[in-house]
Amino acid sequence: GAVDAEGLAGIAERIAVRAAELVARRRRDGVSVAATKSNPVDIVTAVDRESEDLIRELILAERPSDGFFGEESGGSGTGTSGLTWVVDPIDGTVNYLYGIPDYAVSIAVVRGEPDPRRWEALAAVVVNAATGEVFRAVRGGGATRDGVPLRVNSGVPVDRALIGTGFGYDPRRRVWQAGLVRELLAEVRDIRRLGSAALDLCYLAQGRIDGFFERGLQPWDHAAGALVAAEAGARVEGLNGAPASSDFLLAAEEGLFSALHERLVAAGADDTSF
Ligand code: IPD
Repeated sequence: GAVDAEGLAGIAERIAVRAAELVARRRRDGVSVAATKSNPVDIVTAVDRESEDLIRELILAERPSDGFFGEESGGSGTGTSGLTWVVDPIDGTVNYLYGIPDYAVSIAVVRGEPDPRRWEALAAVVVNAATGEVFRAVRGGGATRDGVPLRVNSGVPVDRALIGTGFGYDPRRRVWQAGLVRELLAEVRDIRRLGSAALDLCYLAQGRIDGFFERGLQPWDHAAGALVAAEAGARVEGLNGAPASSDFLLAAEEGLFSALHERLVAAGADDTSF
């Protein structure tokens, strides 16, 4: 049936703003490292869990037949509505820990399986919890920051392009990722590793960077940001025509996308052994 994507974006915004306030308040109170995941670099704070619990409760109270898919708790079934809420309670955890003001709450509503290769994102909100900036997009309805329409930078040649990227937590993959950066550094204006993929994609939408790529993103890292970037005019895909996924995500306006794609593939970015 017809889905009210604007209405879903409104719910997502209300809930993301509340979670962002919690996240910011807890940082003012002083965060502590509660546990570590696969690697000591991958720091999970108690706040991560608290934020996700709050988001899950608020969503399911309003949308009891939707599915929920979050970084901390994983899936809770697909729901009966065919819609799933894909949630990162704090994207940019390391920035959060160190107090670098670039961390966000990310919420997307997708239709279909909770797999970025197959889903269709309908609505997305990313809130920078340190600054309060609200990025929002609705499929086919454009993207905004605090209500102001967003557009990617247009016609940027590769040698004038400021490119964002990120590194996963696995040491072997990081070394491989460094190899791509090494190849690109001489070709582009510069590279940024800001620390929150969700915000990187929103910054791309806003023209704060010109392109973004990363191997190894989790669905909740890019679900919302990818829709914001796409609705602001970016092409957001994997390599060689594949949909964006944990294998690869590349995002930029069409011309720059092609130029970056060519250089990344030449540098071995489509080697799936890393
Ligand atoms: C991380 C951030 C980072 C990216 C990593 C992600 P987290 O998410 O988005 O920028 O480079 O790949 O895992 O762990 O802070 O939610």
